[in-house]
Amino acid sequence: MTIKKLLSATTLILVSSLANADEDANLYIEGEEMTVRAAAPAHMEELDEIFSGWVFRSDETQALQMDDFDNPAFVFVDQGIDLFSKVDGSEGKSCASCHENVEDFAGLRASMPRVEDGEVVSMEELVNGCRTERMGAEAWKWSSGSMTAITALIGLQSRGMPINVAIDGEAAAHWQAGKDIYYTRVGQLDMSCANCHEDNYGNMIRADHLSQGQINGFPTYRLKNAKLNSTHGRFKGCMKNIRATPYKEGSDEFKALELYLASRGNGLSVETPSIRN
Ligand code: HEC
Ligand code: HEC
Repeated sequence: MTIKKLLSATTLILVSSLANADEDANLYIEGEEMTVRAAAPAHMEELDEIFSGWVFRSDETQALQMDDFDNPAFVFVDQGIDLFSKVDGSEGKSCASCHENVEDFAGLRASMPRVEDGEVVSMEELVNGCRTERMGAEAWKWSSGSMTAITALIGLQSRGMPINVAIDGEAAAHWQAGKDIYYTRVGQLDMSCANCHEDNYGNMIRADHLSQGQINGFPTYRLKNAKLNSTHGRFKGCMKNIRATPYKEGSDEFKALELYLASRGNGLSVETPSIRN
């Protein structure tokens, strides 16, 4: 990989091209090959090729995702299976009362988020819509253990399928709003998402190997906090790192950003639940 232009020297962050990951490795999960590199979607003018974040992880972290038995995220997927058939709320129903087979959600994760009636809808909202409107149960918090366990279980049903979110028609304005956020410099470090994930992927930032900030593996298990992390939770973390005031999880801004980022991964495989550091 070519060395990208370095970040402006005014930032406090040291970027170098040292790397310890095998960027040329291929990902097979349980024997099935994932698409971890693909031609960039036509709308991306700055890049020719897109890469899964898996490519940039250390050999050890890469290996954990290749076998579901070794993948620590599966503890939470199992919790999701239990939650799926757990009765909750005033209607006395579980998810399974209406969605007999969780396998029926195959393909859904690959097309999320989507735009319905003029609004961006994230997976978390589909789940909470059923909870509040169909079960008479309380909404789960965006990044709660229950929510990420269920979104991991639903996402897993699409593993290996190519991300394919729609960005035209009524999605276009939201997509553009997300793109604007992606390229706007914010925070005390005055940086945009693109400054790291587009201009410097492949380089080291402190001890971390920068990826393109793809979201095809979410929710993702992070070794750092030993739990599943939502996309919006990750966006928040990156904004805090550049000392910007993050938007709220579930906000219109983060949903637009999620739509835009998902579209930058069109063609990569869904890897849910992935492992990152
Ligand atoms: C009372 C019946 C009922 C219950 C209980 C229920 N759902 Fe639903 N759910 C529906 C219906 C009806 C739809 C809309 C039609 C469809 O897409 O299947 C839907 C849609 C969805 C969708 C979007 C599917 C798509 O392809 O667009 C998801 C995801 C979902 N439900 C998850 C859940 C989860 C998770 C639970 C438990 C927390 C749950 N549902 C509980 C009836 C229910
Ligand atoms: C100062 C550099 C920096 C900036 C600016 C930055 N990030 Fe990150 N981001 C990182 C680092 C470091 C990681 C962890 C290593 C990696 O996956 O790139 C990361 C990881 C991510 C991941 C997880 C990728 C995966 O494969 O799981 C996503 C998604 C992400 N960032 C999105 C964003 C978004 C959205 C913005 C703008 C709001 C942003 N980042 C701004 C440094 C940055």
